[in-house]
Amino acid sequence: MLINTVQTAPIAGQKAGTSGLRRKTRDFMAPHFLENYVQAILDGIGSADGKTFVIGGDGRYFNPQAIQTILRMAAANGAAKAIVAQNGLLSTPAASNLIRQYKTDGGFILSASHNPGGIDEDFGLKFNMSNGGPATEAITDAIFTRTKEITEYKVLEAQDVDLEQIGTTQLDDMTIEIVDPVADYENLMAELFDFDAIHALFKGGFRMTFDAMHAITGPYAIHILEDVLGAPTGTVINGTPLPDFGGGHPDPNPIWAHELMGIMTGPNAPDFGAASDGDGDRNMIVGRGAYVTPSDSLALLTAHAHLAPGYKGGLAGVARSMPTSTAADRVAKSLGIPAFETPTGWKFFGTLLDAGKATICGEESAGTGSNHVREKDGLWAVLLWLNIIASTGKSVADLMTDHWQRHGRNYYSRHDYEAVDSDIANSLMDDLRSSLPNLTGQSFGDLTVSKADEFAYDDPVDGSHTSGQGIRVMFEGDARVVFRLSGTGTQGATLRVYLEQLETEADQMKKDPQEALSAVIAAADAIAQIRTRTGRDKPDVIT
Ligand code: G1P
Ligand code: ZN
Repeated sequence: MLINTVQTAPIAGQKAGTSGLRRKTRDFMAPHFLENYVQAILDGIGSADGKTFVIGGDGRYFNPQAIQTILRMAAANGAAKAIVAQNGLLSTPAASNLIRQYKTDGGFILSASHNPGGIDEDFGLKFNMSNGGPATEAITDAIFTRTKEITEYKVLEAQDVDLEQIGTTQLDDMTIEIVDPVADYENLMAELFDFDAIHALFKGGFRMTFDAMHAITGPYAIHILEDVLGAPTGTVINGTPLPDFGGGHPDPNPIWAHELMGIMTGPNAPDFGAASDGDGDRNMIVGRGAYVTPSDSLALLTAHAHLAPGYKGGLAGVARSMPTSTAADRVAKSLGIPAFETPTGWKFFGTLLDAGKATICGEESAGTGSNHVREKDGLWAVLLWLNIIASTGKSVADLMTDHWQRHGRNYYSRHDYEAVDSDIANSLMDDLRSSLPNLTGQSFGDLTVSKADEFAYDDPVDGSHTSGQGIRVMFEGDARVVFRLSGTGTQGATLRVYLEQLETEADQMKKDPQEALSAVIAAADAIAQIRTRTGRDKPDVIT
């Protein structure tokens, strides 16, 4: 077949963030945009020659066409083999598993995670390495450098490959293996969790609702929860992946998963509710009338993971991103295991997982996972919760109440100010940075600053240094506020304000989080002058 070498020129805006390159779908569809980036990836990783890649995506608009382009380019660049999920549909954690299980050289994951999909919405592409995790900083930098100097890319002139039939086919010299996206993942879950106990739980009348949000976890959840574990048909709602996710935001939080929240607070609420995002790596956990924050979920899972067969030997350690609440640290302390605090983004957990220093990791942004793959994993978190409920016989609400009584409750919330003018957001952060030396000792209402800094991280495994990871202001009495600009937004800047306050009084555990955090919220505004500078009188999203 004919290999075309197409002349091109660098395209601005191809710097990838914490989760690969995310842009408007129309940008990705523009001439040479996707092709340039794919070529930059293949060059950035050394070359494609003789390599095997996993390819799949979350099914959003442009997923099928982009996969065909990547296949033609991988073949033209000399790749030996591509393992492609049937119809190109693959959740991010399942992709991570395939990359590891088949000992491949990495994978292309097409997704913009929880961002809406459609021709006028978002698209994304990221490259994961042979350990199954997101490309390291060094590789991302090499890829970005290539995007700035690219002059040509290689692509095969060929028909689209039929991705519907499971089996093996050829694209010129490259072998394409089309695999069932769910089977290997299901086997992995069956090794980690006590499927018999969960099956018995459902048989005993336990009811749950899983909201797949018209995204990629639909087929996984229907098969595993309903077919294998015996949950009644209809347990999974919105289970068919759609290119535009049904017009919604496939982001599992109380705002966007309002349908599920309505069910869980309604008169006929099931025992347990859960949701996952566009590409299946995030999760939301909610009991009957009891929403569990991701930070609390991480802490609870850390405390009880040993109840699941895959973790019965205990955990080596737990890791959380810096803005995630310190609830998991308190559990780690009681278990006598190390707790790691990393910058935001799953890739920072990779070295700790590879080195066996941490077993479970989590972020406040609804991501939890373990050393079974190198991505966060939505369904994994749901299954671990189900395993814990089956083993303890307790409801979500009772598990959380018991947890807080034992470890204290870290009231927690995140306030997001979206699409803020980038200059305003940057100068707000710059001014905060320069005010740091004077903050300690200052009082805001009843809160006195005990320490203030900008978070930087020295990776204990590979020694790499990462700076500028968010401004932390700690107050006496175990309260904290963190200011950070998002690295994944596609419009202007998103200012994230993370608020936390520890409560150890047993009779103070049932407050509304916003009320419990009111002093910290007021201090955050006084310190950063958010309202005055952004002209917003309240956050766009509160989670
Ligand atoms: C957000 C989350 C972060 C997560 C990332 C990718 O990044 O805050 O925890 O790792 O999405 O899912 P941010 O937009 O804050 O940079
Ligand atoms: Zn995601």
